[in-house]
Amino acid sequence: MTVLFADLVGFTARAEQLDPEDVRAVLSPFYARLRAELERFGGTVEKFIGDAVMALFGAPAAHEDDPERAVRAALAIRDWVREQEQIQVRVGVNTGEALVALGARPGHGEGMAAGDVVNTAARLQAAAPVNGVLAGERTFRQTRGVIEYRPVPAVAAKGKRDPVPAWEAVAARARLGVDVPHRARTALVGRDRELGVLRDALARVRAERTPQLVTLLGVPGIGKSRLVYELWQVAEAEPELIWWRQGRSLPYGEGVSFWALAEMVKAQAGILETDTPGQAGAKLAEMTGQVLGGAPEAEWVRRHVGALAGRGDSAMLGGGRAEAFAAWRHFVEALAERRPLVLVFEDLHWADDGLLDFVDYLTEWAGGVPLLVVGTARPELLARRPGWGGGKPNAVALSLAALSDADTARLVGLLRGRPVLEAGQQGLLLAQAGGNPLYAEQCVQMLAEQRAGEQLPVPDSVQGIIAARLDLLALADKRLLQDAAVIGKVFWPGAVAALGGAGRGELDEQLHGLERRQFVRRDRASSVAGQAQYGPTRLSRRPPGRRSRPGYSWPGPKWTGSPRRLGRLRLACARRCAYIPTGTRSRSPIRPRPPWPG
Ligand SMILES: Nc1ncnc2c1ncn2[C@@H]1O[C@H](COP(=O)(O)OP(=O)(O)OP(=O)(O)O)[C@@H](O)[C@H]1O
Ligand SMILES: [Mg+2]
Repeated sequence: MTVLFADLVGFTARAEQLDPEDVRAVLSPFYARLRAELERFGGTVEKFIGDAVMALFGAPAAHEDDPERAVRAALAIRDWVREQEQIQVRVGVNTGEALVALGARPGHGEGMAAGDVVNTAARLQAAAPVNGVLAGERTFRQTRGVIEYRPVPAVAAKGKRDPVPAWEAVAARARLGVDVPHRARTALVGRDRELGVLRDALARVRAERTPQLVTLLGVPGIGKSRLVYELWQVAEAEPELIWWRQGRSLPYGEGVSFWALAEMVKAQAGILETDTPGQAGAKLAEMTGQVLGGAPEAEWVRRHVGALAGRGDSAMLGGGRAEAFAAWRHFVEALAERRPLVLVFEDLHWADDGLLDFVDYLTEWAGGVPLLVVGTARPELLARRPGWGGGKPNAVALSLAALSDADTARLVGLLRGRPVLEAGQQGLLLAQAGGNPLYAEQCVQMLAEQRAGEQLPVPDSVQGIIAARLDLLALADKRLLQDAAVIGKVFWPGAVAALGGAGRGELDEQLHGLERRQFVRRDRASSVAGQAQYGPTRLSRRPPGRRSRPGYSWPGPKWTGSPRRLGRLRLACARRCAYIPTGTRSRSPIRPRPPWPG
């Protein structure tokens, strides 16, 4: 969880000289703006304490990028305050584990979070420079790729033995930019077949002048964006110029339906973030003039494309969505008419229905032009659009599986710059990474930073991703996973039904959904007659490195203590080593003696 404190500087002294009404007049727009910024980035305002505000990111619902959201919100607040004459601000941001009361109602002044992470955030805030943002160590580590920091001396804090390391956040690195270069840290490992499919698709659209849609599906960090980057290199190496336009859907900043598409149009016109509306308009006019020429419908297309680039939508123009889609398709076809065109829609699981409909429509209706549409998405997309990528002659979906142990070991060797690791450590690392390249990267990084004698913990960002994916599940699905975790490392639908009270038909459907989203997998053989056997996928479960510690081993059938305590122990154990994020409440009462092998 990430905690943010923001405080008005020197306001208390001024408040004494002002009427209470004036105080309120100064403060209320400040509070309103603060709240708006915090909520825009997905934070929850927990409380106002005097002039200060405390906000939480990651509770009640976790997002995988909570620290980044918090720092971005802090920078947005700082930038706004810098323009104000009357006030100044100090902000502190800190990340760590906290005790979270899920039932609390912050709106009623009930506190949600407590713990060292909260106190340290307050200390960092007090030590921050005027109109500055200080971040603690874990926040810094998790966001240094996307936020620019300046090192500052550690903060001496009351009640703490050691000074608290701190960094000042300077600016957010552009993330929304187009054609975001992928930072590949090593050569590509494995994935020959998948890259082959992409390469063939590109060759085919060029040779046959027909559009194609390829969707890459897989859990976070499995390498979807990396494959897109590899395809980009293939396209770059071609002697013929291929136009490549890329846009992504965002997990926050909702409300701009066709953002990803608008980004592509802006990139085509060379519009920069810093351009004034006048400059942007001129660039757009020039680009559309070139692309559309004097075609009879040019003016109509131009209007819709202009509206898209301006506001990310053009339904306002009248004629509704169907007309806008037709105009945009026309534009895309006109582009592809001139040169082979690749459109990449990244992170379609965050796209809203409008954009998904458009991608669908485009690949179905565009014709006679060399157009390759590539989408990337996490398996959640299939829950919303079960038929995505299938059922059309020119669409395929590729599901990316975990890397083999041999490939993971090769990747780890490349990341460390030397091939061999001590055998025990190698085994632990492979188990933790579970064939996921992102996890492998994070684990290697932790290994490099690890102090002597420490256990290899689960890296923060991996935990964040797992918690965020779990939080997005429907309540019934979360309950099912909880019940399953209570049963054990593998489970059977009958046992889950006995615990949860759900009907079998319903349960099978739920399990099927969770399997598609790669939270559970069905084993080929079952140890209970007549019952399918399931387990967590390698990617949904927390890496198992921690299991061997005392208290982490599964209390089995030899248990001699009270049934109640057995239930509690199993739940605690399941939380630690299986798929239940901390902070999830147990569903009591847990029936301690289930009717299946223990
Ligand atoms: N086959 C591979 N060989 C080497 N490195 C890889 C491979 N696949 C992925 N990586 C690296 O692992 C990291 C995560 O991959 P990537 O960003 O492509 O994941 P993703 O599937 O797009 O995840 P998300 O859903 O979060 O966008 C990147 O640094 C990437 O370069
Ligand atoms: Mg990606």
